[in-house]
Amino acid sequence: MPAIVVIGAQWGDEGKGKATDLLGEHAQWVVRYQGGNNAGHTVVLPDGQNFALHLIPSGILNPAVKNVIGNGVVVDPGVLLEELAGLEERDVNTGNLLLSADAHLIMPYHVAIDRVTERYLGKAKIGTTGRGIGPAYQDKVSRVGVRAQDLLDEKILRQKVEAALEFKNQVLVKVYNRKALDANEVVDTVLEHGAKFAHRIADTRLLLNQALERGELVLLEGSQGTLLDVDHGTYPFVTSSNPTSGGAATGSGIGPGKISTVIGILKAYTTRVGSGPFPTELNDDMGELLRKNGGEFGVTTGRSRRTGWFDAVISRYATRVNGITDYFLTKLDVLSGLETIPICVAYEVDGRRCDEMPMTQTDVHHAVPVYEEMPGWFEDISGCRTFEELPANARAYVERLEELSLARVSAIGVGPGRDETIVRHSLT
Ligand code: GDP
Ligand code: IMO
Ligand code: MG
Repeated sequence: MPAIVVIGAQWGDEGKGKATDLLGEHAQWVVRYQGGNNAGHTVVLPDGQNFALHLIPSGILNPAVKNVIGNGVVVDPGVLLEELAGLEERDVNTGNLLLSADAHLIMPYHVAIDRVTERYLGKAKIGTTGRGIGPAYQDKVSRVGVRAQDLLDEKILRQKVEAALEFKNQVLVKVYNRKALDANEVVDTVLEHGAKFAHRIADTRLLLNQALERGELVLLEGSQGTLLDVDHGTYPFVTSSNPTSGGAATGSGIGPGKISTVIGILKAYTTRVGSGPFPTELNDDMGELLRKNGGEFGVTTGRSRRTGWFDAVISRYATRVNGITDYFLTKLDVLSGLETIPICVAYEVDGRRCDEMPMTQTDVHHAVPVYEEMPGWFEDISGCRTFEELPANARAYVERLEELSLARVSAIGVGPGRDETIVRHSLT
């Protein structure tokens, strides 16, 4: 059996947690391959229990699944322990969680630098989650990062932290006027945390490849989304990793040829948290209605999510950049009760029509949506379990999105619960 990737097709919070939980029923492994605890993935179990996962794969709620935090993820040791404790308190078995020896660690100085740089940027800030994600990936690429395996060798860990702090303390103190961090304190805390999860550190790249050779199904759970990708997103208003499907191979150590299916999670409208361009954003009562009806408040930071209409320029782009084979369209139920529903089919940029994502960031900032209106529906659709049960106008909306997005919509979410889903084509 092959590997399947679940990715966010927009700016994150599309419902990846729910999709992973649902598909995880058929998988032996669920793997996070990038990002860190900037993510907030919600899973609602059949008994109504609601879980918010940040760092641990959503497969953890399924006792039969083995979960891996892959090499591409950045891990805050304290956060990992807190999340494990929170799950254990709620009787979730966490025995099935492994951490790649090559995953980089988010150190206290990364969190400090993330927060001060944002403050320093003022109005130009990215609106990060303040979890140290960018600075941790900076160190990885600069080849001065600390990895999970360093927790197993105190001497090396000490050397690395001392070397890192020699420079970072200068920056913290001289540029940002903050307190210096003490290397011994940092090492002692990280070692204390690390001792509690050292038994989970493993050569996950080897284990995943062996699992694939045995014919097991590996589900790769993306965090964030296509437009937050550091290469393909709305740079610089992005995260510092590759949520797009190519990142699933590098972030887990699986060859791209093993990936047979790329499932794009796509919200029936659009949301974004943090700064950056958002062509279909609604700064009016309608935007407020979508936020209220969709419960659009961040799982990680509690911030209000910006809301807007569906943007097919983005979904077409996501299909191409990720090689999406199937879409899981979420939150269709949130659109019930609207007279008409606009869909952005193209942009107008300085008087020119653009059917595809503009090449330059300046043009993206100038993009004005070209809308097409679809008739809405008033029925409550949360009880629908087949496509045919949906009102005709809801079916027409889905079919139009499918046509504009250049990939089939294989599943549709009509509520947050696992069973509140319409499956049109099997995804596993
Ligand atoms: P993720 O980051 O992509 O996992 O998404 P989040 O968990 O941050 O946000 C998605 C929110 O929508 C969560 O509260 C989910 O429980 C909820 N959700 C997911 N799918 C549906 C759906 O089809 N309908 C409704 N009403 N809510 C959904
Ligand atoms: P999930 O996995 C939505 C956004 C932040 C900010 C930008 C950079 O739940 O979809 P970072 O802390 O990563 O350096 O912030 O990315 N962001 C997200 N937005 N959902 C997420 O995760 C996000 N993770 C980061 O708001 O704009
Ligand atoms: Mg989220």
